[in-house]
Amino acid sequence: MITPTQTVRAIAIDHPSSIRVFESFGIDYCCGGRKPLAEACAAANLSVNEVLAALDAGAVVAEPSSIDWSQLPLDRLVAHIVSTHHAYVKQELPRLTLLAQKVVNRHGDTQPHLPAMQKALAQLDDELTHHLAKEENILFPYISALEAAIESGGAHPDACFGSVASPIAMMTAEHDAAGQLLASLRNLSGGFTPPIGACPTYLAYYAGLQEFERDLHQHIHLENNILFPRAILMESSTMTATA
Ligand SMILES: [Fe+2]
Ligand SMILES: [Fe+2]
Repeated sequence: MITPTQTVRAIAIDHPSSIRVFESFGIDYCCGGRKPLAEACAAANLSVNEVLAALDAGAVVAEPSSIDWSQLPLDRLVAHIVSTHHAYVKQELPRLTLLAQKVVNRHGDTQPHLPAMQKALAQLDDELTHHLAKEENILFPYISALEAAIESGGAHPDACFGSVASPIAMMTAEHDAAGQLLASLRNLSGGFTPPIGACPTYLAYYAGLQEFERDLHQHIHLENNILFPRAILMESSTMTATA
């Protein structure tokens, strides 16, 4: 239970998910975080009740989707992946990159795992940015168009690749590479465990990486285990039907 008399810093330490809320309101939770929440809100001309409501909402950890995606149209699954998981990756990578830079600037000289983590995160950022673009611009539109063509009995969409299995094999290999980079971030950080007495920025960085890992696991599960096998099956069934 977060109260207006707690200091911003104490809230940030006890509830790492609050840091994103403070960032969104422009409340200083780090160097200027020793003020009670009510005082910090008054100084920033914010309603303390509004900030408390956002903090409560931010503390709720999203549960994996309970929707049975194995039965719904692939077009809906693709839209869900893009609007939730792709949007999250695009929002989080710049924020995590900034946090990585801050902790390296402050602690990188004495904690060599931090520059190593920053390098791994930069590689993950680069690879995932290209990966999402390929899915959104090539693979996903093809899957949606093929599904629509089958439903309407229209002509199948042209593909610059032979079978849909080819880009899917590439995407699956890229998922493995992203998983390995996240595993190296987890190992370098000792399971995203911040040192005792770590500052709020450090805590926000590790909490953010842990959330990012959890989301990416859900994201890859929907693609590797549901979307991709169903797309391959759909394509192969049309080939059988037209053979
Ligand atoms: Fe994706
Ligand atoms: Fe993917």
